[in-house]
Amino acid sequence: MARSKVTVVGAGNVGATCAHWIVTKHLADVVLVDIVEGVPQGKALDLAESAPVMGFDLKVTGSTSYEATANSDVVVITAGVPRKKDPVTGKYPSRDELVKTNQKIVGEVTRQVAHYSPNAILIIVSNPLDAMCHVALHESGFPSNRVIGQAGALDTARYKTFLAMELGVSVNDIHGMVLGGHGDTMVPLPRHTSVGGIPVRELIAEDRLQQIIQRTRDGGGEIVSLLGVSAWYAPAAGTVEMVEAIIRDQKRVIPSAVLLDGQYGYNGLYIGVPTVLGAGGVERVIEMQLNDEEKKMLEVSAEAVRSVVNILGY
Ligand code: APR
Repeated sequence: MARSKVTVVGAGNVGATCAHWIVTKHLADVVLVDIVEGVPQGKALDLAESAPVMGFDLKVTGSTSYEATANSDVVVITAGVPRKKDPVTGKYPSRDELVKTNQKIVGEVTRQVAHYSPNAILIIVSNPLDAMCHVALHESGFPSNRVIGQAGALDTARYKTFLAMELGVSVNDIHGMVLGGHGDTMVPLPRHTSVGGIPVRELIAEDRLQQIIQRTRDGGGEIVSLLGVSAWYAPAAGTVEMVEAIIRDQKRVIPSAVLLDGQYGYNGLYIGVPTVLGAGGVERVIEMQLNDEEKKMLEVSAEAVRSVVNILGY
């Protein structure tokens, strides 16, 4: 079997941790790319030097140029700037400014990776996620089944973690999904959540369940308030779950941000919905039956995406 190759652009916290999980799971050779000279090379070399101990037989390289990324099967894009205070003015950038800055970064990265790996599947992680998916789709010219956003994989992982903690059971026995976007635009699905097949509402009282859902919504903020920066282990794990599904053609059902084409009543918008991920990228969008409340929450997600897509100016 041919070796697989995954490029991770952005060798920061999330990107470097993606590289780490990818080799730990023996998935593919990894190329780390960043704009800061020395960082991708240094992190890649450090990770490569762990191979004899960890027992992965894969190449890990780092570069600031894109030639090294040629013919990647999957490209993960985590490049971007976080929302932080301007050291001179002391002000936070507005949402629109942040969107524009990351649009420029993700746009440039996408053009480069699409040039060197015209058949790759792109997984977008950079925020604001749904808008950056639109940027990557637009700049790559790829079909939408090959431009996918990491959204629900992370929120679902957090949701399952909190449920397992609550019940004192294995995370492996929690089944369920979170759709939509992060935070206020998340669509939790307690009706579809089970513990070893038992509906979660038989095991957890409604008010407590709602607290767990709220904690999931605030999951990103909880980490920021502890660390002062945004999370990376779980975001990277969610991303690598998607990489694995594609590289191993697993046909996993993973909530992902995908361009809808009439499904759920939406057209031409990236929204987090259940998808079947395999060697073809998004192989299918699963249209589940949502009740009125869930539909309303999905509309909040769609509205949020529309409002940032408008800023992009496409
Ligand atoms: N090309 C390549 N890399 C770039 C570029 C660019 N044009 N611009 C910035 N980068 C790199 C930075 O140098 C940095 O190493 O992207 C990396 C981002 O890493 P961090 O700042 O550590 O951010 P991280 O926590 O990894 O988050 C990355 O993922 O979850 C999202 O909201 C998060 O958008 C953010 C992204």
